Amino acid sequence: MDNKPRSNYRVVEFAIAAVLTGFICLYGGGTSEALAQDAKGQAFIEKAFPHSNKCKRCHERVFEEWETSPLSKSIHSPAFRASLDAYLNSPGGKDKALCFRCHAPHVREFSDQAQLFIDQAKSGDPSLDGVACAQCHLIKQVDRAKHPPDPKYEIGSKTLYGPYKDFVQNLAHQSMELGLFQKSDLCLNCHQSVPSAANLGKANDLLGNWDQSQAVKSGKECQHCHMPEQVGESANGEKKRKVANHTFPGRLGKLRQEAAKLDVQTKIEGDKTTVTVKVQSLVPHHLPATHPAWATVVLDLDVKGKNLKTVFADKRIYGRTYVDAKGQKTVFDFEAVKVVDDTVLKPDETRVETFSFPTPKDTKTFDVEVTLSYGAITGPPPFLQRVEAESSQGLQDPVFQPIEIVKRVENIPVGK
Ligand code: HEC
Ligand code: HEC
Ligand code: HEC
Ligand code: HEC
Ligand code: HEC
Repeated sequence: MDNKPRSNYRVVEFAIAAVLTGFICLYGGGTSEALAQDAKGQAFIEKAFPHSNKCKRCHERVFEEWETSPLSKSIHSPAFRASLDAYLNSPGGKDKALCFRCHAPHVREFSDQAQLFIDQAKSGDPSLDGVACAQCHLIKQVDRAKHPPDPKYEIGSKTLYGPYKDFVQNLAHQSMELGLFQKSDLCLNCHQSVPSAANLGKANDLLGNWDQSQAVKSGKECQHCHMPEQVGESANGEKKRKVANHTFPGRLGKLRQEAAKLDVQTKIEGDKTTVTVKVQSLVPHHLPATHPAWATVVLDLDVKGKNLKTVFADKRIYGRTYVDAKGQKTVFDFEAVKVVDDTVLKPDETRVETFSFPTPKDTKTFDVEVTLSYGAITGPPPFLQRVEAESSQGLQDPVFQPIEIVKRVENIPVGK
């Protein structure tokens, strides 16, 4: 309560500023007849879902964090654009809004504008938001009985939902505390399963039995790890308080180092050497999550002998292999009808891998290097060429590079 007088003061201050500068306009309004059809459509959409630029004015910290996250590029990436195209050209690709249901979820309220979303994504430099501020903070309810769960937006309301009961008032929007914002349900509506892979039935389950994991049983929601608590300004110039990190650490960021532990044992028996690797997943859900369908985590073994030359290499791949209706392998979940191989690391699972090879010769010691990484994109060559062509960085695009999770290097002496 001690900041009440201060918040009243701020309201007065905002009111004066509003009179001087014209209204604080979150909800569009400034449309002109000169706008082209698409721009009109976009303005109409942004009346209901204000663009993130509007929030940036007062929530600079949050905006800058979000801007570095993959969420801010959910309709930008070359892989998304190339696979969107593959979907739209596939026999089942009739529902134009489908991919956007999670990649730009405001399409749910504007399904007649799906082509605008497609054109924007295809442009490679969309001005339309994907998963931005309003796309989460206007969700009032998530229906977990549906598969995938269904978000309910409150359109036309000027209330933004969030975690605070004791929010400071402002003139741009009303605020309301909603428990949903500290619950996994909010995230599951996009992260649990994809409707495009509905043919897979139960196998269309991106996270696995996450609710049986140790972390979840001890009360941790998705936000605990993927929106870690920190202290900072929630709105510019406001008193510091507990806030939530909006960089959404995942493949990028420090959280990655907490994904798995590797235990490496090397046994030399004369001419034969055996390396046993225990891969302990510390993730309370599937690793990797299985959308897009090419997602993999790769365990690489590299044995380096004399002059650090590789004398043996092998790998294990954690992911899923899907086939389409014709029985052909596919990396597109929208074509998949069956999982023919599933090596995904289950929540909290420990997997033991053994590798055998001839003991390196002509050397006193050799190195055993074990690396766990997120794998690079895979798929049929025409698709990969399309991804390459869609990227300004070509083959240097991050999607073609593995991302290291953990690495162990051991130096092993040969002989007794
Ligand atoms: C409206 C749909 C939607 C909601 C709701 C949503 N996400 Fe996501 N999320 C996405 C999409 C789409 C991507 C992929 C963005 C990209 O890379 O194109 C993503 C990416 C991520 C990533 C990065 C994953 C990686 O591979 O590094 C994390 C972490 C994440 N989301 C966490 C969360 C958490 C935590 C919540 C709940 C607070 C949440 N998301 C709610 C759609 C959503
Ligand atoms: C139910 C929600 C949902 C739907 C529908 C959906 N996606 Fe995704 N998509 C996600 C989430 C969540 C992620 C992030 C996954 C992760 O990092 O584990 C993602 C990630 C991706 C990625 C990798 C990140 C990137 O942007 O390069 C691609 C590509 C992708 N989706 C393509 C598609 C395509 C194409 C469709 C339509 C056929 C589609 N998605 C439909 C939720 C969805
Ligand atoms: C994927 C969903 C998602 C997106 C996108 C998102 N938020 Fe949030 N936001 C949340 C959740 C969930 C919380 C509460 C987290 C908690 O308390 O554990 C939150 C908390 C907040 C808070 C209060 C705490 C703080 O960190 O200041 C503000 C303000 C906020 N968000 C503004 C924004 C703005 C502005 C954007 C766009 C730049 C944005 N959010 C994008 C889900 C999202
Ligand atoms: C005129 C400045 C201003 C603008 C513009 C603005 N906000 Fe806020 N917002 C605030 C202030 C001030 C708070 C209170 C912060 C606090 O209590 O520490 C707040 C609080 C919030 C909260 C927390 C609500 C709660 O009860 O937990 C969310 C979420 C939020 N804003 C989202 C947004 C989003 C999304 C946009 C853009 C559509 C936006 N804001 C635009 C000033 C603004
Ligand atoms: C106890 C911490 C923890 C909780 C709780 C948690 N995760 Fe994760 N998550 C991780 C770790 C660790 C990784 C792997 C390292 C990384 O990618 O940062 C990960 C990876 C991810 C990724 C990216 C990896 C991929 O394979 O695409 C997504 C998306 C994700 N989690 C979503 C979620 C969602 C949604 C929830 C809630 C249902 C959740 N996580 C709950 C720790 C957690």
